[in-house]
Amino acid sequence: MNISIIGSGYVGLVSGTCFAELGNKVICADNDAKKIAQLKKGNLPIYEPGLEELIKGNLKKGRLRFSTNIKEAVVNSEVIFIAVGTPPLDNGEADLTGIENVARNIAKILPGYRLIVEKSTVPVETGERVKDTIETYVKRKVKFDVASNPEFLREGTAINDFMHPDRIVIGVESKKARDTLVSLYQPLNVPIVVTNIKSAELIKHASNAFLATKISFINAVSRVCDKVGANVEEVAKGMGLDKRIGRAFLDAGIGYGGSCFPKDLDAFVTISENVGYDFELLKVARNVNEEQKRFYIKKIKDALWVLKDKNIGILGLSFKPNTDDIRSAPSLDIVKFLLQEGVKIRAYDPQAMPKFKNEINQVTFCKNSYEAAKQADCLLIITEWNEFKEIDFKRLKKQMRCALIIDGRNIYAPEVMCKLGFKYISIGRPSCK
Ligand code: UGA
Repeated sequence: MNISIIGSGYVGLVSGTCFAELGNKVICADNDAKKIAQLKKGNLPIYEPGLEELIKGNLKKGRLRFSTNIKEAVVNSEVIFIAVGTPPLDNGEADLTGIENVARNIAKILPGYRLIVEKSTVPVETGERVKDTIETYVKRKVKFDVASNPEFLREGTAINDFMHPDRIVIGVESKKARDTLVSLYQPLNVPIVVTNIKSAELIKHASNAFLATKISFINAVSRVCDKVGANVEEVAKGMGLDKRIGRAFLDAGIGYGGSCFPKDLDAFVTISENVGYDFELLKVARNVNEEQKRFYIKKIKDALWVLKDKNIGILGLSFKPNTDDIRSAPSLDIVKFLLQEGVKIRAYDPQAMPKFKNEINQVTFCKNSYEAAKQADCLLIITEWNEFKEIDFKRLKKQMRCALIIDGRNIYAPEVMCKLGFKYISIGRPSCK
């Protein structure tokens, strides 16, 4: 099929590239000329494992093109995906200016029947708005369909998630739209859930809100574990083996971050409020998440007593491993707090240091974990990158002033750390003495 994706952010870029990989002819359009110029050369604005190779390969085969010209994209495509950003407004609502702009631009160009699909995460009823907007601004009477096809890929594992999803969700209003999207996704050979547009929009917000709540639930359980000396990992394992619960997203830690869960929870709370429902459950999940960061900071204070002039090493700055994304990363709040207290920070992250430096630069950025641990009174594990799991502990310990590790991601076994001579504090697991 001839497809275009308007918006070359995370979702747009990965989806467009994967559609091309599946054999479609894809135009990825974006109004950011600098970004498009870079992408044409195969240079990526983000770090995502495997994406660069896939983009380069599909550019070479002529299946993928980048453009700043939305007209070219709309004219040459049967299906147009809208994947522009929906950033949060101050009141928690999603800013839909980008979506509205694209809808208006598509309307002005529309040369004949097109299927216009929202892929960005949007509030329920946005599909209707998109349809109304196109009907209002369309130049001459042409038929078109609007559909919703939310994306469930995760950063860090985006290509695998796109190519092997648990399900595809499509919200449609016509047989033609349904048939087009079903045949587009047929090669993935996965269950396709066909609903109306509003249900599809809600499936996305409800899924992210549920996953965030699951994380907050296990973080709340970890607090009780800490009090009584139980082990949250064993609790999660025991719970997770129940098929109705499942083990995924039951890793206790320093709370969720990223560009999706915090923003989508806010948006879903506001959407519910706007239709007259107080979604208290989500407000509590949100509070537990904030509280989890404060709880981690308290662990640092309890262990170090006075923070002023202490040296703290930090391993991991991105909101999760395998990405350079630091949007709403717990590291931002933790570092800000430590700096206010007069702590000297040395930090290392395999990918996120340039982006972190743009936000906070009063940190010494190091070239590896051992450099970050130099003369440290304490080492913090903030992101569970694989390379931190494979660290040479003897070498690490030699660098440190005190062999103290406060692990916000539970990546090491307490007994092993104890044997190695570390004082090791983690989340919801007893420290060995
Ligand atoms: C999330 C969803 O998982 C995707 O399905 C969705 O498509 C995406 O949002 C989106 O809406 O675009 P993402 O934010 O990329 O994906 O990353 P996740 O793997 O979901 O992690 C989110 C946060 O939760 C991270 O900070 C992670 O450290 C934290 N987390 C995750 C936990 O603290 N514990 C867990 O057990 C799992």
